[in-house]
Parts: sequence; C-alpha cells; structure tokens
Amino acid sequence: MEKEIVIEIEQLYKSFREKHILKGIDLTLHKGENLGIVGKSGIGKSVLTKCIVRLIEADSGSINVLGTDVVSCDGEELNELRKKVGYLFQGGALYDSMSVRENLLFPVRRTQFVDRKHDTEELIERSLRSVGLLDAIDKMPSELSGGMKKRIALARTLILKPQIILYDEPTTGLDAVTSGEISELIQQIREEYQTAAIIITHDMKCARIATDTIRIMKEGQFVTEGTYEELSCSGEKEIRDYFI
Ligand SMILES: Nc1ncnc2c1ncn2[C@@H]1O[C@H](COP(=O)(O)OP(=O)(O)OP(=O)(O)O)[C@@H](O)[C@H]1O
Ligand SMILES: [Mg+2]
Repeated sequence: MEKEIVIEIEQLYKSFREKHILKGIDLTLHKGENLGIVGKSGIGKSVLTKCIVRLIEADSGSINVLGTDVVSCDGEELNELRKKVGYLFQGGALYDSMSVRENLLFPVRRTQFVDRKHDTEELIERSLRSVGLLDAIDKMPSELSGGMKKRIALARTLILKPQIILYDEPTTGLDAVTSGEISELIQQIREEYQTAAIIITHDMKCARIATDTIRIMKEGQFVTEGTYEELSCSGEKEIRDYFI
C-alpha cells in the first residue's frame, strides 16, 4: 500500500527582489519518512521550510500540508495547521527569561492546546522524558549547555504532538558526540510520535543517522535524491563532495 502523503510541493518559486532563491521546487514527504535536505549555505533551505508553514509567502507554486492548501488557506486554517507541524528553528532559541517548564508551557497556552488523555503537567513531563531531560524542568536556559538547549527546544516542539517536524540544522554548533545523540534522538522521536520529518543539515553524521533519503538542493532546485550510502558513494564527484 502506498504511504500517505503529508507534504506535497509543486513548482515552488520564491524570489527576494531580483534574487531568485527557489526555482521550481517539487517535494513529496510521506508519513513516517525522514527526508534530509543538503545544500550549500545560502541556497534557500531555510526559506523552503519557512514557506511550508507560511512564515514566508511563496511567489508561485502549490504547497499542500496534511490536506491544507498552505498558499491559499485562511488565518484560522493556518493556525490549526501550525499546531500539527513542529518547527525546530536554526539556532533553536529558548526564551531566556523563562524556566524550562515555562518554555514548554508557552506553546500549549498560545495555541490553547488541549489533550484529552493528558493534563498539561503530564504533557510537559512526557516531552521532557522523550528528550531525556526531565530533571532540567526547573532550570533556566542560562544553566543549560548547547546540546541541552537543543533538546529542550525539541521538547517544546513535541509537546503539541506534531505530525510533521521541520528540523533546520538540529546539530549545528554541537560536538560530534552530542550531534550523534541528537541524530539518534530524531530517530527515536519518529518511532515514539510517528512523525514525518524534513531534516536540513550540513552534518553528514546527522544525515547518515537520521534520514532515510536525502535530496541535494542546488541553484533553487533539487538535483538528486538517494540514501546516504548511495549519494556518499556516487560516481559523480560533485555529489560525493557534499558528503566529505
Ligand atoms: N526574509 C528575507 N528577505 C530577504 N532575503 C532573504 C530572506 N530570507 C532569506 N533570504 C535570502 O535567501 C537566501 C537563502 O537563505 P536561506 O536562509 O534559505 O539559506 P540556507 O540554505 O538556509 O543557508 P544556511 O545553510 O546558511 O542556513 C539568502 O541569500 C538569504 O539572504
Ligand atoms: Mg538555513
């Protein structure tokens, strides 16, 4: 049986003034899939993920996420959709003046998220447990290491039980061991929450551990797709070079 499609993008274009960034992006993401996106800095990877949740408006093309037409939906539909799509921002900032608990409460309050099975305290504990940091619940962000902050940012995304997670550089700035742990965590989250994910990364260890397939973005389009093993052993040097 064909797996359900959760994101379908066709011929997406986006320019900023005369700078053409996205030039005909096509992308399909299936339920349960972890798709990696690799490409040079400044190529438009973050712009693409922002278009998916309409933090940036596309110029043309279609974006369908969980059955919602992102380009033409109204504000209410967009809010509903954003509850189902977790976004781990590049940099993944926490609110410095709030404790870990308050950081996690924030999206629950903002979206008036209600879970029939669990109360809010249980939701906070569950998502902290998922990232292995339950004991950080009363800490302030300044007391956390870079890797812990990433985990808490991920917990804050998980608390709304998203169906899709967009990870923008989840391991940047972390040492190799911590990067590996976060990459394993991305896999565990998929098992536990049955999510689909797009994972943008420059970190090839993360690409190897966390993705099923990888697409390479070049000059506003995807140029190739394959598993880590396929692309890193490609006959084309230009493709292999991304995996050094
Ligand atoms: N809101 C904006 N207004 C104008 N230009 C923008 C805006 N957002 C992004 N850009 C430009 O679009 C291009 C692509 O940016 P983007 O952040 O998507 O790159 P990226 O592939 O994510 O790079 P990196 O790997 O460094 O994160 C850049 O040239 C950037 O300056
Ligand atoms: Mg980026």
